[in-house]
Amino acid sequence: MKGLILSGGTGTRLRPLTFTQAKQLLPIANQPILFLSINTMRDAGIHEIGIILGNTAAEVRAAVGNGEKFGVAITYIEQSEPLGLAHAVKTAAPFLGDQSFLMMLGDNVIHGGITHAVEQFIRQSSDALVLAGPVANPEQFGVIKVSDERVVQLVEKPQTFVSHLALCGVYLFQPIIHEAIRAITPSLRGELEITDAIQWLVDNGYSVTHCLTTSWWKDTGRPSDLLDANRLLLQDITHAIEGSIDAQSEIIGPVRIAQGAVIKNSTLRGPIAIGKNAHIEDSYIGPYTSIGDEVQIRKTEVEYSVILEHSVIDQAPRLDQCILGRSVRIGRTSRKPRTMRMVLGDSSIYEW
Ligand code: TTP
Repeated sequence: MKGLILSGGTGTRLRPLTFTQAKQLLPIANQPILFLSINTMRDAGIHEIGIILGNTAAEVRAAVGNGEKFGVAITYIEQSEPLGLAHAVKTAAPFLGDQSFLMMLGDNVIHGGITHAVEQFIRQSSDALVLAGPVANPEQFGVIKVSDERVVQLVEKPQTFVSHLALCGVYLFQPIIHEAIRAITPSLRGELEITDAIQWLVDNGYSVTHCLTTSWWKDTGRPSDLLDANRLLLQDITHAIEGSIDAQSEIIGPVRIAQGAVIKNSTLRGPIAIGKNAHIEDSYIGPYTSIGDEVQIRKTEVEYSVILEHSVIDQAPRLDQCILGRSVRIGRTSRKPRTMRMVLGDSSIYEW
């Protein structure tokens, strides 16, 4: 079976980070989200994977390469415009051919894997199978109404209650889905919706089944989701210290410190991931924080945050729930007047 990962889109909700970076390459626990999706597919036995690319194509190609480092073969498929998930499948039709396939969204993290979903799909040979998970706020998701294992209705962001079962961004399809996509028209937001295509299968008597997630899953589409996914993934890290820690520092709980990182006179309270050659001095780093390669933090307290590579934080106020992009600088200056001086890109957020 082939796999298809959707890594195009616009990532509007993660601006300004996505002005300069593919959202699927944003790291959680210091690993790009897209890498986790590729590993999830490979672990489910799928080794031939197509990746849908949008306007961040070059960056995704450079980061993923030919797939060898993941033990898979990657084919890149460029989508002319982000015209919807079903449009992405349509674009990938020549790659997918006349075979069943697995599709995943490149910005969703599925903890616990999807092997059970693939096995159920093969066993049942249904026309489509969707992975679903219970949520407290179904009005913010695509949800399914089920009768036993069969899906009888799919609704995008329901205004009135339909069910608590949300779609998690993992779909298995027989080639009949291509006919369904040809039959549907764009939604009000101008996109070819995969939910409409699956509803077409239901309405035309094809079998659509579902199975449940075995653990947590996360759509990382918004900043708060990215921080939460980072928290959830850090819960799994094992204590591993490759960098150096001086005698004045205190380490509590699981902490992963990569090679070349230097920790001086600081308190680290895990779970935390610290990247290569990061430098932390006279600081406190609290739980659920990921610090990228080459980051420098001095005389600052940071908690529940994701700091991307090459950023420098020096004598800043306590940082909490922050996502800092690459090469961000926050710090004090001795220059007068002592005003706040900022260079914030479009859609930046600054609150105190
Ligand atoms: P979304 O998060 O629904 O869309 P988006 O990336 O445009 O984000 P935003 O709403 O913040 O602007 O997309 C889910 C995944 O599918 C994501 O990895 C991007 C990908 N995608 C495509 O590859 N092609 C598309 O046409 C669309 C809409 C999304």
